[in-house]
Amino acid sequence: MERLLFLLAVLQLLAATAAVYKQWIPNTNFETASNWDKGRVPCARDVVHFEKDKVVSVFVRSPHALTDMYLPLSGEFVLAAGAAFTAFDGSWDPGCDSGGTVRFADAEHHAWFDPTLWQDVLPGGELKAAGPVFSVDEERVPCRYDDVIFQPQTSFRVDTDSSQPVIHLRSVSVMGQELNTPSSWAAYLGGPSAPLQFHGNGTLQVTGTGCPDKSGCACGNTLDGPRICAALLRASGRQCPEPACQSPLQPLGHCCGVCGATINLDFTPDFDLQKYQDRLVQELLSQPKYAGVQMAISKVHKAQTFLGVLPRGATPLIQIVLVDDRAGGQAGTAAEQLAADIMESIAQHGEALGISSGKMEVAAGSTASGQVGSHPVSRITAGTVMGLLFSLLLLGGILFLYRKGKLRSLQMLTLERRHQKISRFSTSTLCTMQVRQRPDGVTRAGGRQHCPGGTTTPQPPQPLTSLLVGFKSHITPGGI
Ligand SMILES: *[C@@H]1O[C@H](CO)[C@@H](O)[C@H](O)[C@H]1NC(C)=O
Repeated sequence: MERLLFLLAVLQLLAATAAVYKQWIPNTNFETASNWDKGRVPCARDVVHFEKDKVVSVFVRSPHALTDMYLPLSGEFVLAAGAAFTAFDGSWDPGCDSGGTVRFADAEHHAWFDPTLWQDVLPGGELKAAGPVFSVDEERVPCRYDDVIFQPQTSFRVDTDSSQPVIHLRSVSVMGQELNTPSSWAAYLGGPSAPLQFHGNGTLQVTGTGCPDKSGCACGNTLDGPRICAALLRASGRQCPEPACQSPLQPLGHCCGVCGATINLDFTPDFDLQKYQDRLVQELLSQPKYAGVQMAISKVHKAQTFLGVLPRGATPLIQIVLVDDRAGGQAGTAAEQLAADIMESIAQHGEALGISSGKMEVAAGSTASGQVGSHPVSRITAGTVMGLLFSLLLLGGILFLYRKGKLRSLQMLTLERRHQKISRFSTSTLCTMQVRQRPDGVTRAGGRQHCPGGTTTPQPPQPLTSLLVGFKSHITPGGI
């Protein structure tokens, strides 16, 4: 019996949450055209300039003939098999008639906490198909239990400046190797490349542990929220876009106000975030009438105050953010309808799903009309109340429904219900850890193997040379 319970506990832990893989987008590869000030890769008649005092790690994939190259004082070239630099012998090079000075662009400013520099990928590194689910801005940057991937065959440089001294992660993959134990990561940090790849005052720490709670885990980027929003707004022109609705909602962890709806759920230990998200996508979001509606769902910590003044710690809750692509006076109305549908389904099935209460806020409709609590809003609210009354009749178990009135133009609808504990063990979504082994795996320095991942199987050695630049060098005809 004990053993069975233990097994069930383990299965439940594995089922906790699906792993999230986030991939760093920029690279400092030699062959990436945007890494050069002229927007093209240097060719034979060019003189290549790396800034003297800028630290770089540069991956070189193929052979290059160059006229001259000025190297930085401190840096590294990681040469793939077959890659090399040779001096241009003066012969004709098609497509490179002009020649000139080509400078390597500044890689210093790419910040870890810039949400535009990350993308969600599958465990193998393939881009995730764009679906109806998005992340609030703070969760677009790797969260505490996420897996981070730096693409194989790339070099990179990341500014880890953070408001927290330590940035926790489940794992980090570099050059096709997953580092998923504290010791393998520490060994990597002690190696030659890490100091060239990471700079800034935040220290990355690999824990090897995923989110242990099936009701979800908060992302953990709240302290760096202002940094994340500053980076995001820098990328989009320093200002949030003009919202199409009056008094847009301010979801926790999101930088700009949104039109649509948010739902905050209180949950019981039975709540399963991944399952609930799948259920919402399958049953509601995939309906044709909700095409163009996007949903973010995650556990967040909402700061509590006592009597509205004194801070009283933070309580975890599940935040659902619904936005849509409707324009003008219709902005947010589809999201609002979906929110009403979700509230209705909570009234019916909330108890069995581990949801003890839900609160909806809406901001939809036109700014042009200037009407506060305009028509669509009240119409939908009436619909919601009707739906809830229907559920009341159906279940006969809802305790009380109370309308909090209008707060600016948005409406709040609170539905509370007592919950009964129902024990369930979920075994359906077993999370399998994959050993990453890729044919293009590259190891450092002449086939010497470094497999700090513990679970990573050694890859067949590939010829690779790493040129460490410790002083100012200058390649002249004759090659290196
Ligand atoms: C890191 O430096 C930034 C300034 O770039 C500062 O705001 C932050 O508090 C520092 N973080 C730590 C943990 O010292």
